[in-house]
Amino acid sequence: MTTVASTTKKTMEHPLNAWYVAAWDHEVTSTAIISRTVAERPLALYRTDDGRPVALADACWHRLAPLSMGKRVDGDGVQCPYHGLKFNSAGRCTFMPAQETINPSAMVPSFPIVERHRFLWVWLGDPTVADPASIPDMHQMDSAEWAGDGLRIEVDANFQLVLDNLMDLTHEEFVHAGSIGQAELSESDFEVTREERSVTLSRWMLNIDAPPFLARNMQDKFPGFRGKVDRWQIIRYEAPSTICIDVGVAEAGTGAPEGDRSRGIENYVMNTITPVTSKSCAYYWAITRNYALDMQSATTRMREGVARVFRQDEDMLVAQQQAIDANPDYEFYSLNIDAGGMWARRIVERMLQDERNAAGHADPVRMSEK
Ligand code: FES
Ligand SMILES: [Fe+2]
Repeated sequence: MTTVASTTKKTMEHPLNAWYVAAWDHEVTSTAIISRTVAERPLALYRTDDGRPVALADACWHRLAPLSMGKRVDGDGVQCPYHGLKFNSAGRCTFMPAQETINPSAMVPSFPIVERHRFLWVWLGDPTVADPASIPDMHQMDSAEWAGDGLRIEVDANFQLVLDNLMDLTHEEFVHAGSIGQAELSESDFEVTREERSVTLSRWMLNIDAPPFLARNMQDKFPGFRGKVDRWQIIRYEAPSTICIDVGVAEAGTGAPEGDRSRGIENYVMNTITPVTSKSCAYYWAITRNYALDMQSATTRMREGVARVFRQDEDMLVAQQQAIDANPDYEFYSLNIDAGGMWARRIVERMLQDERNAAGHADPVRMSEK
């Protein structure tokens, strides 16, 4: 493989016309209000009495006290903790203390929010183009044919650094030696295909030793298995910030590359990254499997194993962000291994450009406040 060394645009911005995960489903209840910042917008999140999720701007119309410090009231609303104004789930004020009439302009922005695949997805851009059909497919998260679990990590790094990390798994050899890393990762060839809003990168490593994490997972389905494996990683990026990785190993030479995975194990590593500020993000992930479905010990062991691996990534990403901040004029250079990440960055850049062009007509954030 020849080496290329081109520069890559190092944008730190995030598109607004996009669904971003604001919380795991279980984090938001009808009894409490939580505060989460998504794309630089602080949100007050809660559920109505009938369980519907709500996302309001976390600043009262009156004097901007955070509504997340207030109380849940009246079936679907909240009461400001400072002077007691009440707002319903549409953000409209329904009560003002010591006043009979309510100022009709008294509103806080209410944002589209959808519960899907165990996550709550919010849309902070132009609400007229908020189509839930564009929420990425992560059906393994809540399908009866898959089992697994995950976590949320707050990372002091721009969300695109996490995307770069996941699109190029050759770093496993260096950052994750001892669990999922092995030299064959950077020795093997890979293929990249792309569509308008997605990029897929596939890599096969044939007749190799399974790395320790996958060798252990193999025991859950094939107790006592020893021997060489064929290993795959099929990384699928969906704009702007979701990456689902189909990973696994199968007994070598049993037809996995041709599509017969019956002698192997399939794990899906689900990742979706929410920009918080230009230098921080919330990283939601899970690892799922489609065998040994009732083995809770496997769910816990795999979740803890991946959590350890991702802490290694987090250390690297935070250090990388600090170096970027200390050297703001430095460029990013791209190697062959960056092909997948580079295409993902181009898609994000195009979404940003579309929003800049549309901003000539209307400001998407202000529109949602009408
Ligand atoms: S700041 Fe909310 S009621 Fe005054
Ligand atoms: Fe990693």
